[in-house]
Amino acid sequence: MIILIAYATVEGQTRKVATRMADTIEAAGHQVVLADLAEPGFAIPARYDAVILAAPIHLHRYPGAMVRFVQNWKSALMEKPCAIVTVSLAIHSDNAVERAEAEAYPELLAVETGWAPAIRHHAAGALKYLEYDFFKRWMLRRIAAKEGGPVDTSRDHEFTDWAALDKFVMDFLAVAAKAAHPAP
Ligand SMILES: Cc1cc2nc3c(=O)[nH]c(=O)nc-3n(C[C@H](O)[C@H](O)[C@H](O)COP(=O)(O)O)c2cc1C
Repeated sequence: MIILIAYATVEGQTRKVATRMADTIEAAGHQVVLADLAEPGFAIPARYDAVILAAPIHLHRYPGAMVRFVQNWKSALMEKPCAIVTVSLAIHSDNAVERAEAEAYPELLAVETGWAPAIRHHAAGALKYLEYDFFKRWMLRRIAAKEGGPVDTSRDHEFTDWAALDKFVMDFLAVAAKAAHPAP
């Protein structure tokens, strides 16, 4: 199979998530096209056997590039195995209300675009204190303090569960393979 992974990222963690998924898919013997939606051109869903979208949450929203991509291609996305991977910090929270909010982001995307992703994975992202400017660092530290997260701004903190991501990808490949070769 040939799988499209189309991603948006602001700080780079979702690129890392997308690259890891690409490595897992290639190791399983399939081909991947990895497309950063900041560089449009070849991310045309109809050309692929299956599609994985990956995007972070910033200020309670997916990046505009991902929303526009889904709006533009939703008919094609509805016709093939397709999943969305949402990268957020709220999914890592000890607070059940925060986690529920994170789990609801694909629903908000469905309301906004008319495309409801059937297959969903939530990955915890990263706090990149060393890369933020002064204001972002202050804001994220404040949010972390409120939610019991790490407040040591002298280093970055990564929360992504790579084993869970690998398992999600393998499960998705099984679904995609069934759709590509349906039983007679
Ligand atoms: C300015 C800013 C706003 C953020 N807003 C949210 C948010 O509303 N909800 C959330 O769960 N995570 C939020 N995050 C955390 C990001 O989702 C997390 O850092 C993720 O790893 C970013 O992915 P990226 O590096 O691909 O952009 C925010 C991060 C930043 C820097």
